[in-house]
Amino acid sequence: MKLEENYSLLKHNTFGMDVRARYFVEYQSVSELIELLQSDIIKQHSLLAIGGGSNLLFTKNFDGVVLHSKICFYETTRETDEHVYLRVGSGVVWDDFCAVMASRGLGGAENLSYIPGEVGASAVQNIGAYGVEVADIISRVETVEISTGKIRLFGVSECEYGYRESIFKAALKNHYLVTAVEFRLDKMPQFKLEYGNLSEAVASVEPLTVEEVRKAVIAIRKSKLPEPSEFGNAGSFFKNPLIAATQFNQLREQYPTMPHYVAGNELVKIPAAWLIEQCGWKGKTLGGAAVYEKQPLVLINKDHAKPEHIRLLAAAICESVADKFGITIEPEVNYI
Ligand code: EPU
Repeated sequence: MKLEENYSLLKHNTFGMDVRARYFVEYQSVSELIELLQSDIIKQHSLLAIGGGSNLLFTKNFDGVVLHSKICFYETTRETDEHVYLRVGSGVVWDDFCAVMASRGLGGAENLSYIPGEVGASAVQNIGAYGVEVADIISRVETVEISTGKIRLFGVSECEYGYRESIFKAALKNHYLVTAVEFRLDKMPQFKLEYGNLSEAVASVEPLTVEEVRKAVIAIRKSKLPEPSEFGNAGSFFKNPLIAATQFNQLREQYPTMPHYVAGNELVKIPAAWLIEQCGWKGKTLGGAAVYEKQPLVLINKDHAKPEHIRLLAAAICESVADKFGITIEPEVNYI
C-alpha cells in the first residue's frame, strides 16, 4: 500500500489543477482495501475515490484522504457460444481494456475506445460514446462498503444506470468503492455505427473488425477532442439537456435548425455543444480557461487556469444558455 501526505494531485486530474491532498493512498487488492478501511486515518477524514481524475474539477486542496485503486487484473469467468464474461480490476486504464478486447476480437467496448479514465470509474459514471454506454456491457459490479468493509456485488439492474448516471453517483454516493467490473463481451460482434459519422468512417473497410471500429472511433475522438497533454480538460463539461417535447416545439419555431434527438417519454435531447455555440462561446476565454474551438462542450485549461476560472466560465455559459433558450444545462464534471 502506498500512503503519501500533502500530496500533489497534478498528475491525478486531467484538468491539470495543481492542488494537494492531505493524504493519498493507493491499494493493490481487495484485502488491502478492507484493511485500509479499518484504519484511523480513514475513519477520521473525509474520503474521495478517484480513477483517472478525468471527470472532476478540483476547486481547492482536498483536506482528507484521496483513494486510488491499483487493483489491476483480467480474469475470464465464463464463456458461452456467444459471450465471454471477463472480470477486470477497477484500476485498469479504461482504454487499455478496450485495446485488449479489440486485439482479442471481442465486441462491445470498441465504441468506447480512447475515453480517458479507469475501469472502476467507468461503472460509476456510466461512460458513453457513439451510441453505446458501458452499462450495455456490464454484467456485475464488485464493491466494498466503506463503513463496514463488506464485499457487495451489484447485478447490472441494481446499478440504476441512466445517461451518465448510476446508483453509485446518486443514492449510494460515497458508500461503496468499486474493486472490479465484470463485462459481457460478444464473440460475434454486432457493430453499432448509426451514431454521428462512424458508419461513414468505416464505409470502405472490409472486413470490418473490432480493431477497425476502434481505430475509427479513436480517429474521430482525436479530431474533435483535445488531448489533456495539450490542454487540460475533462471531456464534455456539460451533459446534453433533456427538455419536454412541448418546449422543443416552441423553440423550433424560433430556431428551425436546432439539432435534436427524440429521447422517449415526451422528451427531446438537445446537443449542449450547439446551444453553447449559438450563444457565441466557441473559443472564448476567461483567465486561463477557454471554450474549446472544435467542440464547445469541452472547457480547457488553456494557460495555467485556476479552478475559479473554469468555474466562472462554466457558470457564465449556463447563464447565457438559460437566458437565450430557457434551457438549464448542468455540468457533467464533478466539482470537488
Ligand atoms: N455541435 C455543434 N457545434 C460543435 C460541435 C457539436 O453545434 O462545435 C452539435 C452538432 O449538432 C452535433 C452535436 O452537437 O451533431 C453532437 O456533437 P457530438 O456528436 O460531437 O457529441 P456530443 O453530444 O457533443 C456526446 C458525449 C461525448 C461523446 C460524444 C460521441 C455527452 C455529454 N457527451 O457529445 O462524451 O464522446 O457524444 O458519442 O453526452 C464525455 O462525456 O466526456 C464525452 C466526450
